[in-house]
This record gives sequence, structure tokens and C-alpha cells, in this order.
Amino acid sequence: MQTKIVSIEQGLDEAVELIKSGDIVVFPTETVYGLGANAFDGDAVRKIFEAKGRPMDNPLIAHIADISWIDRLAIDVSDEAKAVIKAFMPGPITVILKRSKAVPDEVTAGLDTVGIRFPIHTVARQFIMACGVPIAAPSANTSTKISPTRAEHVFEDMQGRVPLILQGGACEVGIESTIVDMTAEVPTILRPGAITQELLANVLGKVKNFDGKIIVAKAPGMKYKHYAPSCEMVVATSPKSAVDEYVRQKANGLNPVVLATSRYLKDLGKGDINVIDLGANDEDAMRNIYGAMHEAQDKYDYIICQDFGNEGLGASIMNRINKASGGKRI
Ligand code: TXA
Ligand code: MG
Repeated sequence: MQTKIVSIEQGLDEAVELIKSGDIVVFPTETVYGLGANAFDGDAVRKIFEAKGRPMDNPLIAHIADISWIDRLAIDVSDEAKAVIKAFMPGPITVILKRSKAVPDEVTAGLDTVGIRFPIHTVARQFIMACGVPIAAPSANTSTKISPTRAEHVFEDMQGRVPLILQGGACEVGIESTIVDMTAEVPTILRPGAITQELLANVLGKVKNFDGKIIVAKAPGMKYKHYAPSCEMVVATSPKSAVDEYVRQKANGLNPVVLATSRYLKDLGKGDINVIDLGANDEDAMRNIYGAMHEAQDKYDYIICQDFGNEGLGASIMNRINKASGGKRI
């Protein structure tokens, strides 16, 4: 199979045709690129799992192009859920609701709930609206690889496995959507993201946050190792320990790199150190982190990353970094 990257202007008709004929298409969103199929067509959805090499017990998110589509996918939507939807959709959030019978088991992995997301990215919205059906999609990477934030990342990883990639440039948010389970007694964050626990608490009064210590994973995806670069990665607890580790690994014969914000990199002092600048602040770092991991694994063979703490966006960035590093700190 030939894989091509096309603009929405050039590729929309073909993309819609592919979806209607039960095939898969890659499309950009503000978080990461998605690998989509008609959410009402179980056979089409199976092709996503095949192309990704993803275990079938990991459910997919259904992407919509209008709030009214929620009624095609979910039932018993509570007032609290409606408040979250009103506050944050379209945007980088996924709400877990009770599924309707129209949603096939391939999407939900047999759960009685469904994840719903309304992306704000104009290409995503145009594409999904033109398809006229919700689009089931995971991130457009092969299983266990880093999520793609550029069309070129998808091409590198999935070339030959998917016919069409819609070009949407670099993803603005850069990490996957916040997932909030609105069917839990207390709304529960299953995956932190750009919509922070503080923002959700403002709307809901209270929300159970993601503390990493949940033993029985409600999002089955949590039990798989995700977002891992192909080389080893560690978190440095201070600029000094980053430099110490750098020197140590260099002496081991490796070619390390430090991933951090501009300010942190300044604190490393002078000297001949490989660095990738994540930008000025947490928002920049969130947008750039996956791209930096892609670049780092291509050019270097040991990644040392800044600690972003456990509050606000920092907590969301650290969630991805901890998965990539297996929680290893130095
Ligand atoms: O930003 C995003 O959410 C991106 C873009 C493409 O929209 N999508 C994405 O999909 O990250 P994926 O499949 O890589 O991650 C979806 C996560 C998985 O961990 C899955 O287990 C969880 O959502 N999930 C999906 N449906 C669920 C459900 N009904 N209950 C609990 N977790 C669910
Ligand atoms: Mg993923």
C-alpha cells in the first residue's frame, strides 16, 4: 500500500470516500494525529487495530463534529457531564459516558461506556463533518510508539499501513486529550491533559485526580507501556543531576541529550552538551515534548529530561515523561 500526505483541500473527497467504503484515514487534531474509521462500522474499526498492532481490549475514542452527535453515541448524559461538555468542547478533552447500542463492541472493547471527543482543529472538524459519522480513532502510531504530532511522524511510523494522511501541520496542544470518566460516582480523570484537574474542579466542584497509584486501571490503556522512545530516558531531579548524569553516560560511551525549557538549559552552564530546547514555559513544553522525543531517539541514544513537577500542566507533561522513562529518576 502506498501512503500519501495530502492537504484537506486536495484530499477531503478521497478521505471521505475511504471512510464511507470502510477504510482508515489519518487526520490531525489539536492534541495528536488520529487514525480514524467510521465508528458505526465494526469491520472498519478492526482495521485500526490491525494497522496499529493494538490489543483489541483497549477501547477507542469516538470523534464528533457537533455537540448534537453525542446523542448518537451515548445515553443517560448527566447534568454534570453536560456542564463539562459545555465548558470544554470543542477542545482537548474526552468524556466517558454510558454507550448507546449503536456503538459497536470494537470501539468500546465491550465496555458499557464510550469515550467521546470533539476536536477543535479545523481540519479534523471539516473531515469528520464531511464524513457525517463519528470517527473512532486512537493516536496514529503503532502500538507502544510515541504519539505523532506532525504528519511526518505518522508517515515514518505507519508508511504502507494506511492509504491517506491529511496534513494539518504541528499539533498545537501536543499531548493527548484529558480523559474524564463522567460515569464514575465522583467524576474521575483517567488521563491528565491540557484541560487540567483545576479547570475540571472549577466546573464540577470536585473531581478525582489522576495520581498514578490506581491499582485497577479503569482506562485499560494504562496497563500498556505507552509513549516510549526507542532509547533509554531518565528524569533529572535538578540541573546539577542532569549534568552529572550526562557526564556519566558520556563516559559510558553513549551520546546523551538533555530535554528541557530554555531557562533550565541556561542553568546547565556552559560546555559542550547536546540539548533540545522545549521552549519558554510549560505550555511550550507540552506542545514540543513528543516532537523532542522523536528527534532525540533519532539523533541520540540516551535522553535526560527535566522534571516538570506535579501541578497544573506540569503534572500532565510529567505523566507522559514518566511513561516514557518508566519512572526512572536520577
Ligand atoms: O487526544 C486524543 O485523545 C487522541 C486524539 C487522536 O483524539 N487520541 C488518543 O487515543 O489518544 P488513544 O487510543 O491513543 O488513547 C485513548 C485512551 C486509551 O487509553 C483508552 O483505554 C481510553 O482512552 N479509553 C477509550 N475509551 C474508554 C472507555 N470507554 N473507558 C475508559 N477508557 C477509555
Ligand atoms: Mg495512543
